This record gives sequence, C-alpha cells and structure tokens, in this order.
Amino acid sequence: MEKKINNRKPYLNWLFFGATVIVVFLLGLLASSIVERRAETEFVYKPKVKVSATEARNWVWGENFPRTYQSWLQTSDTTFRSKYDGSATIDFLAEDPRLVVLWAGYGFSKSYNQGRGHYYAITDVWNSLRTGGPTGPEDGPMPSTCWTCKSPDVPRLMKEVGVTEYYTGKWAKYGAEVTNPIGCADCHDPVSMKLQISRPALIEAFKRQGKDIQMATHQEMRSLVCAQCHVEYYFNKSDGKSNYLTFPWDKGKTVEDMEAYYDDLNFSDWTHTLSKAPMLKAQHPDYEIYSMGVHADRGVSCADCHMPYKSEGGQKYTDHHIQSPLNNVANSCQVCHREETSKLIANVFERQDKIIHSRNRLEELLVMAHVEAKAAWEAGATETQMTPILKGLRHAQWRWDYAAASHGASFHAPVETLRVIATGIDKAYETRIMLNRLLLNLGVKNEIPYPDIATKVKAQAFIGLDMKKLNEEKANFKKTLLPEWISKANARESSYKVEYF
Ligand code: HEC
Ligand code: HEC
Ligand code: HEC
Ligand code: HEC
Repeated sequence: MEKKINNRKPYLNWLFFGATVIVVFLLGLLASSIVERRAETEFVYKPKVKVSATEARNWVWGENFPRTYQSWLQTSDTTFRSKYDGSATIDFLAEDPRLVVLWAGYGFSKSYNQGRGHYYAITDVWNSLRTGGPTGPEDGPMPSTCWTCKSPDVPRLMKEVGVTEYYTGKWAKYGAEVTNPIGCADCHDPVSMKLQISRPALIEAFKRQGKDIQMATHQEMRSLVCAQCHVEYYFNKSDGKSNYLTFPWDKGKTVEDMEAYYDDLNFSDWTHTLSKAPMLKAQHPDYEIYSMGVHADRGVSCADCHMPYKSEGGQKYTDHHIQSPLNNVANSCQVCHREETSKLIANVFERQDKIIHSRNRLEELLVMAHVEAKAAWEAGATETQMTPILKGLRHAQWRWDYAAASHGASFHAPVETLRVIATGIDKAYETRIMLNRLLLNLGVKNEIPYPDIATKVKAQAFIGLDMKKLNEEKANFKKTLLPEWISKANARESSYKVEYF
C-alpha cells in the first residue's frame, strides 16, 4: 500500500490539490450568491407601495409581498375535508340535530356551519341565519361587535371612530364599512411588518391580569396573533350602551375558572326556551385549550402547525394558507416528528374518535335534561325547586360547549378536553337525578320520552323555529341591503389612493 502511494507521480498530487482549490472556490461563490440573493429579497426588499396605518385592503399589502399574498389567497380553497374538520362547509345542525335542542332560543339553533378559511369570514357572516335579515342600519338581532373577528376593517374603524363607539349599535351599522376578510392588518404592523396585536380585548385581558402583552416573546406572538379571535369572549353591557368585547380570563382559563367568572357576574347569554335555564354559550376557546396541551408546554406555537415554513426557489417563507394541518403533514408535523404521515394522522383521529364518542353521550343527557325540565315546569314545579336543577343544566352544558366549540380541542389538549367532558357527564347525571326525584314528587310517574329529533328539520320544528320566515328575511336582505353595502364599500375604497414608490 505505502509503496504505491509513494510511487504516485508528484504532478498528480499537485493536480488534485489544484482541482480541490477550484471546487472549494466555486462552492464559496455559489453560497455567497445564495446568501446575497436572500438578503436582497428579505432584508433589502424594496416596497412597491406605501401601506398606510389603516390599510385594510389585502391586495395593497400584496403588492409588496406577492408570494405571501398568493399563499393567503389559498384560504379560499374549500376542497379539503378531514374526518371531522377541514375547509368545506359542513352543516353541523344537519349532522347532529341534538345541537338544535341544546341551543333552543339562541341564534345557533338557526344555523351553524363548520368554519371555512379566513377568506370567507365576511361572506359567511353575511349568509348566516344568525345575523338575520336587517332592513336598515338599526335593525337585526346582532350588535356591531360581531364584526370584530372578521376583518382588518375593524382596527381601521376603531382608529377612526374610537373603540367604545365601534362596539355600540347594531351589526348592520357597519355593513358598508367591513368588507375585507381577515388579513394582513389583523396581524402585522404596516411599516415594520412585525407581528402586532390589533384587537384591544386581548391587550385589556392581559392588563387586568397584571401582564403587559408588549413583553411577549416572538414565539408567544406566533400564537397570540391567533388569540385575538380564537378564544372565549362575551359582550360586557355594563355601561348601558355598548357591547364591549371582553375575555373572561380574570380568574384563569380553565372551564371552572371562566364559569366562576360568569357566575359571579350573574351573566347569561340567553334563557333556554324548553328548560328556562340561564345558559352560557362557549365561543371557540381554541387558545385557552391549546395552552393546556403538551405542544404548548413544549413551546410549539399555533403558527408552527397552521402556518409552517414553505420553500420556493431556495427561499423559506411562512405559508399563509392557514388550514387544517392534516392537509400538509410534511411541513406541519414532520419537521419535528419522524413518523409516517399515515401514523400521525391516525394519532389525531384516535384522539378525536374517543373524545367525540363521550361528547355525544353528554349531548344525549343534556337533551333529556332540557326536556325533563320542561315537563317539570308543566307539572307545576316552583322557581325554588327548579333553581338548583337549572344551575346544574347551565354548568353541564357549559362544559360540553367549551369542549365542542373549539374544533381543534381533541388534538390540541386531549387529556384536558376529555376531563372537561367527564365533569360535564357527571353534572348532567346529578341534574337528571334531581329532576327525576322532583318529577316523582309532582306526580309524574311515566318516563319522559326522548323527542323525535332525527333530522335538523324535525329538531327545529320541535323547538318551534319558523324557518320559512327566517329564510325569507335573509333572502330579502341579500336582494336589497347587501348590494347597497357592497357598492358603497367599493365607492369608498376606490377613493383611497394607492401610492406607488
Ligand atoms: C381577526 C380574527 C382571526 C384571527 C386573527 C385568526 N383567525 Fe382563524 N378564523 C377566524 C374566523 C372568523 C374563522 C372562520 C371563517 C369562516 O368560517 O368563514 C377562522 C377559521 C380558522 C380555521 C379554519 C380554516 C379551515 O380551512 O379549516 C383555522 C385552522 C384557523 N382559523 C386558524 C387560525 C390561526 C392558526 C390563526 C393565527 C395564526 C388565526 N386563525 C387567526 C378568525 C380569526
Ligand atoms: C393570522 C395572522 C396573520 C395574517 C392574517 C397575516 N400574517 Fe403574515 N405572518 C404571520 C406570522 C405568524 C408570521 C411569522 C412571523 C415570524 O415568525 O416572525 C408571518 C410572517 C410574515 C412575513 C415575514 C416573512 C415570512 O415569510 O416569514 C411577511 C412578509 C408577511 N407575513 C406578510 C403578510 C401579508 C402580506 C399578509 C396579508 C396578505 C399577512 N402576512 C397576513 C401572521 C399573519
Ligand atoms: C415544533 C415541533 C412540533 C411540531 C411542529 C409538532 N409536534 Fe407533536 N410534539 C412535539 C413535542 C416536543 C411533543 C412532546 C413529546 C416529547 O417531548 O417527546 C409532541 C407530542 C406529540 C404527540 C403526543 C402527545 C399527545 O397529545 O398525546 C402527538 C400525537 C403529536 N405530537 C402529533 C403531532 C402532529 C400530528 C403534528 C402536526 C399537526 C405535530 N405533532 C406537530 C413537537 C412538535
Ligand atoms: C401541534 C400542532 C398544532 C398546534 C400547535 C395547534 N394546532 Fe390547531 N389543529 C391541529 C390539528 C392536527 C388539528 C385537527 C385538524 C383536523 O381535524 O383536520 C387542528 C385543528 C384546529 C382548528 C379547526 C380546524 C378546522 O379545519 O376546522 C382550529 C381553528 C385550530 N386548530 C386553531 C389553532 C390555534 C388558534 C392554535 C393556537 C392557539 C392551534 N390551532 C395550535 C394542530 C395544531
């Protein structure tokens, strides 16, 4: 061996050495040109347009960040459907008519669909039967506050008219003002492009807990921008005129903490038409439940899974196609997990299947309890006899809703979600035991039958909803007031100049 090497002609060694030097030099050039090009586009990028502090039009921001804008536009894709979630419209009331009975007397019994991509935030709120068919700016069932999690026009309006004034009046008041779906100004500062909190409710909730949201770390901000909307909230009416958006976090974020907060205020969202219980409606406590899961514990943010990095032409950028991560397991999960895609999806489905099984059982118990409470009233029960029963119903259904209304909960924090449902089942049983004792005392000997609510139509008829009237009002609104809103908004926006550099 040794002999052979020593025998090699010296000029060959020099040739190898020279070739190596050249290759290393060329590699160096390539690397530096990549770095330079990245630097050019990422840091020394030249904005094409000036974005003002109140710019709500997403396409204007898109002039400066065309690739991000294209990925944001993909939230309009409605093709993906997973086992329980996804971007397609799913009529939850048709899939599960028990919900109609649970929400009797409240808007959600009229219509409730699976959330679609951010692109549809405005269209879906126009179409929902819950917003009714207003005929003018002071008409309709919903307050102006309902726009708050729908659009970057909201921070614009808050700056223009003031926060309390924005929260005052009816939903229809701002129909011609709020038309751009959730976008850039909701999460970014227009000058620095840094993540920012544009909604006062989150800043105020932090303040009341003695925390300053400005101190949040960059990684925390990658979840907090979502926590502006994907949270539990209520409308505080204590000033007598506004519906001031408030997060009930002062005692903490667990189901018990928020229940104690609402109980102390004697707050209820509505009175149930069958049982007369003072009910709470959970909104979508996604951030709260997520924060009790193992991923949050390990510092994984919402954006890590729902806005993963994407590579194009050697450049990494944040995918703004916010959607179910199951449509993109490679970028959403496999940056951290080595398991196969099918395995990771099976892990998610297993948690969802098991939790939804228990959740369905709780729903049946709640339907029975509402129907039995109605029978008790009819048999002559007194307020005093009913008070502990209605409280039990309120608390049991609040637990169900807290777990059900957050669509990702079964994956985000499966142990906590199942615990919440288990305590709900416990409370529902306790309530039904009290009810059955009371019914016997009132002389009702027969078992109260489970209602025929096999379809959404049957369930809506059972609770006495006039669906024909609701649909007509909505159709009328879409023919008359809505086109007016759209043309007014278009006229206003075309009067704003776009300043190109
Ligand atoms: C300004 C309020 C707002 C902010 C901020 C916001 N969302 Fe949403 N999000 C919504 C609304 C409203 C919907 C439902 C839209 C619809 O159904 O029309 C939604 C829908 C979704 C969906 C369902 C989409 C689908 O196709 O399955 C996901 C997932 C989601 N948001 C995640 C996030 C994440 C993650 C963040 C933070 C990076 C975030 N959202 C920030 C309001 C917001
Ligand atoms: C729901 C919140 C949300 C919305 C809406 C949103 N972004 Fe982002 N954006 C983020 C997050 C989170 C990041 C990652 C920031 C980080 O980690 O520094 C990001 C990053 C960026 C970046 C930095 C470069 C990169 O790719 O990481 C740019 C530029 C950007 N967004 C532009 C936009 C534009 C343009 C729009 C509107 C079309 C938009 N964003 C809408 C949350 C949002
Ligand atoms: C940024 C890194 C990161 C990302 C992205 C991520 N995970 Fe995880 N995941 C973790 C860590 C860390 C743990 C905790 C386990 C540990 O420390 O060993 C974990 C735990 C889990 C667990 C077990 C915990 C439980 O709830 O039972 C499952 C299942 C899981 N991940 C699935 C997923 C799936 C599916 C995705 C994509 C939607 C995903 N993960 C995305 C880092 C990540
Ligand atoms: C570890 C990854 C991971 C993290 C972190 C995470 N999610 Fe999810 N999220 C998922 C998975 C997986 C699903 C289930 C998707 C499905 O069933 O199709 C989901 C579902 C959802 C849904 C329902 C999606 C739909 O299609 O209707 C929403 C909304 C959501 N997450 C918002 C959030 C918010 C807000 C945060 C942060 C507070 C967050 N997620 C943090 C992985 C994650």
